[in-house]
Amino acid sequence: MRPTQFFTESSSPQFTRVARVYDDLMAGISYGLWLCYIKELWRARALAPDSVLDVACGTGNVTYRLAAEGYETWGVDYSQPMIDIARSKLPAYRGRGPAPQFECQNAAAISLPRNFDAAVSLFDSLNYILDEEDLKRAFAAVARHLNPGGVFMFDVNTVFALSHRFFDQDNLSSQRFPLYRWVSHWDPETRLCTIEMDFRTLGENGIEDFHETHYQRGYTTLQLRQGLEQAGLTDVEFLHAFTTRPPSGRSDRIYVISRKPR
Ligand SMILES: C[S@@+](CC[C@H](N)C(=O)[O-])C[C@H]1O[C@@H](n2cnc3c(N)ncnc32)[C@H](O)[C@@H]1O
Repeated sequence: MRPTQFFTESSSPQFTRVARVYDDLMAGISYGLWLCYIKELWRARALAPDSVLDVACGTGNVTYRLAAEGYETWGVDYSQPMIDIARSKLPAYRGRGPAPQFECQNAAAISLPRNFDAAVSLFDSLNYILDEEDLKRAFAAVARHLNPGGVFMFDVNTVFALSHRFFDQDNLSSQRFPLYRWVSHWDPETRLCTIEMDFRTLGENGIEDFHETHYQRGYTTLQLRQGLEQAGLTDVEFLHAFTTRPPSGRSDRIYVISRKPR
């Protein structure tokens, strides 16, 4: 057994097999609190969006919560299995608010038939864009899909977090599936974090093991600011996540806010 593959030798592309266990993995995540934080940031800037684009929406956890509060929402994600899970939640959701729409699209090439008052991208999704030019294309695509005065908010894992191996995690002492063990490697030259992820879950045929290798790039605030400004977005702000303070050199996650001029 190679040390990087704990349970299994076979590997799948990122966000394919993990889609089925994603919501179980996220069971302890406070999506509701994230939404309160985002709405507070909107309110503090006198913004009252009616429509929200959720970029890299995954299984739609943020999209559905926004929709249930009355926002018109679309979610885009480049993983078809994640989008399939998001869409599969529609029947249980119906009647709770405007129905979200989901499209399988790359953030760097979003093409939708409408614009939005706000866009969000949560849970370090944009760190998964490894090429800085693609990140700039994603910013430009978001900018194209915002109404004048619209706001874009996203969070990223910082270089500090990725280089301090915040991804090295496991729950092997847990009694609940899915079990996981993640081991990360940081390359300071490329600022690329490679995360070897092993999972053990209970499937239809008993215990199932799988492996995914995930890649995240660490971006500096300078790179993010320049990319956003090149895309025509202005008033760029950085916050230590879930606070209204600017980030410090030890911030592990930051929120980034920018605006499309009126
Ligand atoms: C950690 S998950 C977060 C999902 C969701 N935002 C949430 O908060 O649960 C990261 C997501 O980013 C998506 N993703 C990564 N790169 C992408 C890209 N270039 N375009 C669209 N989605 C992307 C993945 O497929 C995955 O669903």
